[in-house]
Amino acid sequence: MAARNFLLPPRLRLGAGCFQALGEEAAQIGRRALVVSGPHTAALGRTGAAVDLLRAAGLVAQAFSGVDKEPWVQAIDEGTALGRAMGADLIVGLGGGSALDAAKAIAVQIASSAPIAAFEGHDKVPAALPILAIPTTAGTGSEVTRFTVVTRPGEQGAQVKMLIGSPHLVPRAALLDPELLRSAPPAAAAAAGVDALTHAVEAFVSDMRQPITDDLALSAIRHLAPRLPRAARGEAGPEDLEELMLGALEAGMAFSNASVALVHGMARPLGACFDVPHGVANGLLLPAVVRFSEPAAEERYAAIARALGEEASPAAGAVARICAACALPAPAVYGIDGEQLARLGPQMAHDALQSGSPQHNPRLASPEEIAALYREALVT
Ligand SMILES: [Fe+2]
Repeated sequence: MAARNFLLPPRLRLGAGCFQALGEEAAQIGRRALVVSGPHTAALGRTGAAVDLLRAAGLVAQAFSGVDKEPWVQAIDEGTALGRAMGADLIVGLGGGSALDAAKAIAVQIASSAPIAAFEGHDKVPAALPILAIPTTAGTGSEVTRFTVVTRPGEQGAQVKMLIGSPHLVPRAALLDPELLRSAPPAAAAAAGVDALTHAVEAFVSDMRQPITDDLALSAIRHLAPRLPRAARGEAGPEDLEELMLGALEAGMAFSNASVALVHGMARPLGACFDVPHGVANGLLLPAVVRFSEPAAEERYAAIARALGEEASPAAGAVARICAACALPAPAVYGIDGEQLARLGPQMAHDALQSGSPQHNPRLASPEEIAALYREALVT
């Protein structure tokens, strides 16, 4: 076995109602907490509840709820200014992947006094304030990962998604409370769940995998697969939510230590060019990428199919069926058509390769093959 490191938050608290332990957990890490969330989380009263719990535990706490659908650098700058002004020594991220990723970027900017864009890539972050993460979706796994993906404006109104990876971004603690998943609309729950499923699949076939990430990835698939269709139909009960949260957590632990691969590499430019939410982008691309990759790692994909509860091969069919059961929006909803892809495809393929993720795929793809995969996945 090749020597690899394996990083996780030192403290995880799981289970219904554990959000109430926020003050107790935070008091072990810092004294002055900035709570980073989005307007939706604030409107549900959760941001205010977090501030109240922190204050009740004797911390100084303030809320920043300016993180919208994507973790834009402008919002990250605003949150950084607020955190600096209050002398924050702890950043609490509360929400979906965007809020958690923004919280991580704010923690880096405050501690390093440089714009987050300076740290794009791997292992360039010099320091970050401690982060306490509380996910309200079962998807990104950001609460346990060493990654953040932030969005900055590109040329001609385009977006650019920057991947930043560093051990400093692994949260100091995470609270995983399935009760917080209850408010997610079915479409959002399905997209988040497909993101988690993609993390597990990609970690399991990545060339950075290790035995412990293999175990976590397969376990994650077993937790997620039976529950995803119910979540997509809006029928998830408390037990389903617990399983989805556990699956997303294990998938996050796996890919943070084994990397993602071609699907995530391709999903970022798709999100940037067409504003496709991250989970949807993964779900639209996953079946085609598995079809492309399967010949290079048949046994691996057979194990994935079995974890999905299906026959061993081909796995591409099993993966396509679970994605279909998630009822994701069609590519046309985002204005994706053959003409647009012909125009943007080569640049998207270039950007996908630039991120470094595709190099971990079991079958390496050329720019031309990536452009063809975009067409196969997105244009019928
Ligand atoms: Fe993801």
